[in-house]
Amino acid sequence: MTQSALRADEQDGLHVAIIMDGNGRWARERGRRRESGHREGAKAVRRVVEASPDLGIDVLTLYAFSSDNWQRPQREVQLLMKLFRRYLKSEIAELKAEGVRLQVIGRRDRLAPDLVRLIEESEEATQICRRLSLRLAVDYSSRDLLVSAVRAAAARTDLDRASLSLLLGQAMHTEEPAPDVDLLIRTGGEKRLSDFLLWECAYAELVFTDRMWPDFQGDALAQAISEYSSRNRRFGRVAEAS
Ligand code: IPE
Ligand code: IPE
Ligand code: MG
Repeated sequence: MTQSALRADEQDGLHVAIIMDGNGRWARERGRRRESGHREGAKAVRRVVEASPDLGIDVLTLYAFSSDNWQRPQREVQLLMKLFRRYLKSEIAELKAEGVRLQVIGRRDRLAPDLVRLIEESEEATQICRRLSLRLAVDYSSRDLLVSAVRAAAARTDLDRASLSLLLGQAMHTEEPAPDVDLLIRTGGEKRLSDFLLWECAYAELVFTDRMWPDFQGDALAQAISEYSSRNRRFGRVAEAS
């Protein structure tokens, strides 16, 4: 068994990760521009964050912008950055009041300096909050992180599998370590991971829904958790009572 203080089966609350997909299609289906889908998507983030603590979620990691998303038209990228800024400015007081700790994971060196400052201020303001840990993945690429983690570990030929595994796991997080993912949800109908939390999802339960992200509500999250609860997680062992 991998020796890690952060194994998913040893956690109290759940780590839920969401690939928030389908904003563009949601808008197109309504004859609107993709941008309007992203605006609605930001509202869905609020709803899901609000619903999470009562559903037993301790850690919520949301995929907001992948490193590959830089390849989108500049106008769309700018709007996404603007919405991200707006979210931080408008939500931080509320998050703090609700006991939500915000952390942003991913590269920061390609973000605008004022956005980086805002991220740092938001993280600092909510640092002591403990009710929910909200991690927003921005300019995030699991493969990039794996490559840098392997580079960091390459010199440590003295380590056994368990210690190396722990070291890699730590190096995969741009900030603090987080538990493995228990439940990964992807909205929008696609059934792929798109370079998200590849390491942390080793034993995650996967739930794919056709619902587009702007239509995602607390009830859909509750439904996904109920589906998760009905699954039998074995971590390579045999099922209990079998
Ligand atoms: C997810 O929605 C939001 C981001 C990737 C930033 P999309 O913009 O990918 O929406 P679709 O998949 O094109 O519908
Ligand atoms: C993944 O969605 C990234 C986010 C949700 C932020 P994409 O829409 O970019 O993924 P692909 O291109 O369909 O794999
Ligand atoms: Mg998409």
